[in-house]
Amino acid sequence: MSKFIIQGGSKLSGTIEVKGAKNLALKIIPASILSSSPITITNLPNIEDVNKSLELIESLGGKVERSSNSCTIDTSNIKNAKLDNHLAGQFRASIMFTAPLLARFGKVEFPHPGGCVLGAGGRPIDLFLDGFAAFGAKISLNERSYIIEAPILVGCEFFFNIVSVTATESMLMCACLAKGTTTLKNCAMEPEIIALANYLTEMGVKISGIGSPTMIIEGITNINAGVFDVIPDRIEAGTFAIMAALTKSNIKITNCNPKHLEILLNIFKKQEIVFETADTSIEIFPTETIKPYGIKTHEYPGFPTDLQPPFTLLATQANGTTLVHETIYDQRLLFTDMLNHMGADIITFDPHRVRVTGPTKLYGHKLISPDLRAGITLILAGLIATGTTQIDNIYQVDRGYENIDQRLKALGANITRVE
Ligand code: EPZ
Repeated sequence: MSKFIIQGGSKLSGTIEVKGAKNLALKIIPASILSSSPITITNLPNIEDVNKSLELIESLGGKVERSSNSCTIDTSNIKNAKLDNHLAGQFRASIMFTAPLLARFGKVEFPHPGGCVLGAGGRPIDLFLDGFAAFGAKISLNERSYIIEAPILVGCEFFFNIVSVTATESMLMCACLAKGTTTLKNCAMEPEIIALANYLTEMGVKISGIGSPTMIIEGITNINAGVFDVIPDRIEAGTFAIMAALTKSNIKITNCNPKHLEILLNIFKKQEIVFETADTSIEIFPTETIKPYGIKTHEYPGFPTDLQPPFTLLATQANGTTLVHETIYDQRLLFTDMLNHMGADIITFDPHRVRVTGPTKLYGHKLISPDLRAGITLILAGLIATGTTQIDNIYQVDRGYENIDQRLKALGANITRVE
């Protein structure tokens, strides 16, 4: 199992370019199944979960031509709709294959999705099963897989009891090939969902209410395909902005969209963190004293749960106490124990709330990356800790951050990947 060794305390400076959004790439790849014409995807992040997603396309019989940051997918030859248990069980985003396979072939068989275990008892998929049933699908279960069958999907009205990013994207894909009109209510409104819906519109689907809680979709029988450029990864950009503030560095983050980070930048202003933005960049300047600011994670445009772990680390260096309220996942604050081992002062009130007191000096430690966002946070902690930090299970970080050690090294970080 490979690991990172980090010597803390290096001064960072320079420019870091943001890659394409992981949580859009992992949707547009399965969405290629909706059309029998080939699709070209550009600004594709070169990360483990994208590799797995493209392997799943090939395991179904699709053809993939790949360069490091783009690919062309041809799904005209896909015959069966049975997801490979081993592959699909390795990452949560495999659930994104179920809707396009069901919509195109009328049947899909898949194992309960894998990935980081963030929600209590693994990651629930009740919204997906309820949604498929709303379109008229029949759902059965054998020892390891779900079997969803619907010779034809009929347009429906569906209300998401919980605002869910992937459930919204999945029912949007079903609606594209469903007979008649579908109204989806209480939708998630992330920028990645807007980009996907805009692409489907360009490919011939009529969708109204994009970016609002209610989307109305007129299903069609045949979807074209074209070229899709993945938008910049707002979570990568936010993570690097937090890293710059944390290490009191002057770092320019390029190829990003500051408009997708309004909440973080507004909070930076309250914390008196000095920064400048342009159309596609954010430049952070060294700020000696960071003011504390409490956060409560919320669906977009609220504070993204994926930025909560790095922000909680930043709170350990703020002057005062910060209340962090993680509303989306049950286990996304567990990593704070590891920050406490490094010297942080974080008190857990309940699985959703911690109180951070800062500033505290952090010391290097041997750690294991529990999931993608906690993993990158431990790397950032290593950058400011005194001494050496070792982080195991860095596959979790490679799932979502392309070439992260080389990119941080280019800023001056002392980080080594040990296979
Ligand atoms: C997406 O996950 C992202 N993943 C997550 O990013 C992100 O944290 C999350 O949205 C929230 O923004 C991808 O897009 C691949 P949800 P998703 O459904 O869609 C509950 C990362 O680090 N729920 O919006 O799986 C669920 O338990 C990952 O990049 C149900 O109860 O998240 C959670 O509490 C982590 N039943 C809440 O909804 C369901 O059927 C919101 O989760 C589905 C979800």
